[in-house]
Amino acid sequence: MRTYAKVLAVSAAAALALSACGRGGDTPASGSGGGSTGGAAAGGFAANSLIGIALPQKTSENWVLAESLFNDGLSGAGFQKDVQFANGGVGEQQNQIQAMITKGAKVIVVGAIDSKQLGTQLKAAKDAGITVIAYDRQLQSTDAVNYYIAYNNEKVGELQGQALLDGMKAKKANGPYNVELFAGSPDDPNAQVFFNGAMKILQPKISDGTLKVVSGQTSFNQVVTQGWKAENAQKRMDTLISANYQSGTKLDGVLSPNDTLARAILESCKQAGIGTPIVTGQDSEVESVKSIVAGGDYAQYSTINKDTTNLVKATIEMIQALQKGETPKTNATDDNGSKSVPTEYLEPVIVTKANAAEAYKGTSLEQYTK
Ligand code: BGC
Repeated sequence: MRTYAKVLAVSAAAALALSACGRGGDTPASGSGGGSTGGAAAGGFAANSLIGIALPQKTSENWVLAESLFNDGLSGAGFQKDVQFANGGVGEQQNQIQAMITKGAKVIVVGAIDSKQLGTQLKAAKDAGITVIAYDRQLQSTDAVNYYIAYNNEKVGELQGQALLDGMKAKKANGPYNVELFAGSPDDPNAQVFFNGAMKILQPKISDGTLKVVSGQTSFNQVVTQGWKAENAQKRMDTLISANYQSGTKLDGVLSPNDTLARAILESCKQAGIGTPIVTGQDSEVESVKSIVAGGDYAQYSTINKDTTNLVKATIEMIQALQKGETPKTNATDDNGSKSVPTEYLEPVIVTKANAAEAYKGTSLEQYTK
């Protein structure tokens, strides 16, 4: 349940009062470290302490980038660090978190593969007085998470839904438009959040007939992409095309939850030669940014800028506050099914050809917008 707008709308002081009277009931009170959540030591911890970073699989460029940014950023801030990927899957991530606990990490930052399967390790971290920060993906149904930091994922979905509508309208002023829907991997809680955000915008248009999902596949379970894998999205798109779009029915748009899947969907359309639908994305991956800026046949229409540099920087600032024994800055709460987690949301930005130069100005992606 997102309380972002609500918390943003009130002042910091009022936000504290709000949490005191129930909604964010276990938001740590200033200076008390982890409060009832446990974890953040009231007096902070040594400036050269070990910080564990448990990242998931390399399913998109943002995770790969996070690895080097955490390594450099934590070293630069004077911490020891243990930054791990779990390409082997959930079991590997469980072992990595357990090892970070054993090695005496003071904070563990987790980008979970499957947050519901980390309960034992997270409880062990909590029992050891370690502060746990959920990074990008919420840790669900556990009270052993102290903070959550991410781009506002529901907003990402809303921006994707709106971009899909805008892109199709720019090509053809009036509907009905034929569309297909894709979601991410069902073990990643973000996948459902992105989809819900997008459907907030798209469902009314499906209901009023502006959008027609020709395959009839509109529920989350029907449209998921296991493991966020490009080959799974491409296979499903191949099947959708042969069943629904081979006898001249035009495909106007596809909701894609990220860039890797967007490119796979477009590849499928290209191989079938069915023309270029409007396809959304997320992550600002280099190949997608190039495609959006170049335009033309089988080009991607939009992506989302969720600059990993800023997310890692804000996470390290959280860790530095904890080190000093301060309460990290948060601007929202997120209910993870077990508690209301103090959350720092960053704002995602939609990017199309029209605003790419402006959106990536001063970043490493600027070179691809010229
Ligand atoms: C992230 C996305 C990413 C996806 C696949 C999600 O949890 O929020 O940015 O595209 O994982 O790696």
